[in-house]
Amino acid sequence: MESAPVIDVVNLSKAFGPKVVLSNVNLQVNEGESLVVMGGSGTGKTVLLRNIMGLLTPDAGHVAVDGKIIQQLGREELFETRKKIGMCFQMAALFDSMSVEENVGFALTRHTSMTPGEILNRVDECLEMVGLKGSNKLRPSELSGGMKRRVGFARAIALKPKILLFDEPTTGLDPVMTDVIGRIILGLKLELGVTSITVTHDLKSAFEIADRIALIFRGECIACETPEAFRVNPHPVVQQFLRGDADGPFLQDPPPPRREPRETSRSTFDPLQSV
Ligand SMILES: Nc1ncnc2c1ncn2[C@@H]1O[C@H](COP(=O)(O)OP(=O)(O)OP(=O)(O)O)[C@@H](O)[C@H]1O
Ligand SMILES: [Mg+2]
Repeated sequence: MESAPVIDVVNLSKAFGPKVVLSNVNLQVNEGESLVVMGGSGTGKTVLLRNIMGLLTPDAGHVAVDGKIIQQLGREELFETRKKIGMCFQMAALFDSMSVEENVGFALTRHTSMTPGEILNRVDECLEMVGLKGSNKLRPSELSGGMKRRVGFARAIALKPKILLFDEPTTGLDPVMTDVIGRIILGLKLELGVTSITVTHDLKSAFEIADRIALIFRGECIACETPEAFRVNPHPVVQQFLRGDADGPFLQDPPPPRREPRETSRSTFDPLQSV
């Protein structure tokens, strides 16, 4: 018998005011699997991750993580579930008042009984993985955009969570560092059996790290399949996306909005609630 998916997105719909962002999306990620989610800018990829984290509430459908329906959890249970999830936010979302070391080690200090020495070792290990060895004492204001991203990545993996959600972890990074991050994601999957969803626009890393690739178009998941199947999917939007050119249905005007206003955002700005 097949085990239940670690992340189960069921008929998920989400609108902001009249704007339908996600419409009846279904996605399952099994234990140890790496799902890559792609799609044009503004198609709802970040909104999808925020629903999985319980930072947004669906208008319809639900998300279950490890069999627990996120939107039905009380505060404590939600917090416990989020501890299993490391999230690498699109905008790094570092604490400006803390050093790199404190940012990366924050969850370790707060949520484990590790000694300061053990925490420092783990922080150093994570910083070395992302090519930032020795930058412990820098402040976020002293970092470039790409460095901030890498610190955010190091923070997401510090606790060795069983589930990782990466929101464009390589945007703004040079090709070499993009490859480094891709290899770390692959390593986490192979060595630790981490279950992950990675949102990326980078086709090369997508094909390297994905067990399956999903494509979101106009709020709907129009493909979710192995990289090999995705590559030859005849859907014109998939093919245009793969070609990366401007000719095709991808850029055509979306249909008119269908829904009434409803804003259901929960607390959205405390990244540390995610670990
Ligand atoms: N809290 C919010 N309130 C209102 N609208 C929102 C909110 N969050 C997202 N949206 C809207 O939902 C749509 C999808 O946003 P989302 O951030 O998920 O896009 P995305 O696919 O991640 O795009 P990108 O690739 O540019 O990061 C956008 O039109 C955005 O303006
Ligand atoms: Mg986004």
